[in-house]
Amino acid sequence: MRQFLPIYKQIMSKTVVISGASSGIGFATARILQKSGYHVIGLSRSYPKETYDFNYILCDITDEVQIKNAVDKILSTNPDIYALINCAGMGISGAIEYTETADIKTIFDVNLLGTFQLTKILIPALRKVPNSKIINIGSVAGCLTIPFQAYYSITKAGINAYTEALRMELRPFGIHVGAVLPGDTKTNFTANRQKANMKMDNGYGNRIQLSIERMEKDEQNGKSADTVGITIRRLLSRKTVPVYKTVGFSYKLFIFLKRLLPSRFVNWILYQMYAK
Ligand SMILES: NC(=O)c1ccc[n+]([C@@H]2O[C@H](COP(=O)([O-])OP(=O)(O)OC[C@H]3O[C@@H](n4cnc5c(N)ncnc54)[C@H](OP(=O)(O)O)[C@@H]3O)[C@@H](O)[C@H]2O)c1
Repeated sequence: MRQFLPIYKQIMSKTVVISGASSGIGFATARILQKSGYHVIGLSRSYPKETYDFNYILCDITDEVQIKNAVDKILSTNPDIYALINCAGMGISGAIEYTETADIKTIFDVNLLGTFQLTKILIPALRKVPNSKIINIGSVAGCLTIPFQAYYSITKAGINAYTEALRMELRPFGIHVGAVLPGDTKTNFTANRQKANMKMDNGYGNRIQLSIERMEKDEQNGKSADTVGITIRRLLSRKTVPVYKTVGFSYKLFIFLKRLLPSRFVNWILYQMYAK
């Protein structure tokens, strides 16, 4: 009988789980969706520093036991999940040559494995709701590889492949899967980025430092997290979602041009911007 309820009541009954909801894009999305009438449950390792009015469960998505406990808690009161927004993420920067294996494992654990585990365990609850959604937060950096942020780009390219496969696998169940690709966005992401040892700059001159400084400046002058949250709200109100939704006209143009232009030329442009 859901279709005969007024719109606000239809939304009221919809539970949305958001990982990485303590700050930045996840927090903005959680706030916007809760205000729009969704029942939001945020997850991350710490509580939001700003005031919030949605439900929160502490959960480190790199820990399978914590994921299971958090999901058991969610499902005990909300057995049907309308949407999962996989937003938890982190960045590391530095030269590939100097990046420690432990740091590579950490970013793979958070940006990929954690997302995979949380999604997997919530699929049965998403299958119960018609036209439910999984939105993975990727990045323009997953389509345009950024030097000195290689492992970040690799994880976000991985999210793209994951999104495409999941979308095809879950299509018959009526679960719609897509990735939102933000460009530079002003959040705590910049301050939280792990930096590889800058002293090991032997032979690179100041290329690593200049590249990271440029990236950080672009992020801090970037769009607000609310812009991404509003995009996600729009997607949740639709019956289906696109495979990729890039946020911002200039980034849409970059990705479009990447498809048209020779890879050698695109690589040279990125070299000029971030590696020279
Ligand atoms: N900012 C940008 O320019 C930009 C651009 C494109 C894509 N993105 C993507 O957007 C997403 C959100 O980033 P943001 O910019 O909003 O950065 P942010 O403010 O640093 O937020 C990152 C979120 O991830 C959570 N998180 C990190 N590790 C976690 C873990 N092990 N378990 C659970 N939660 C964890 C953090 O919460 P706790 O620390 O409390 O755990 C925080 O809520 C990321 O996937 C990022 O790659 C960002």
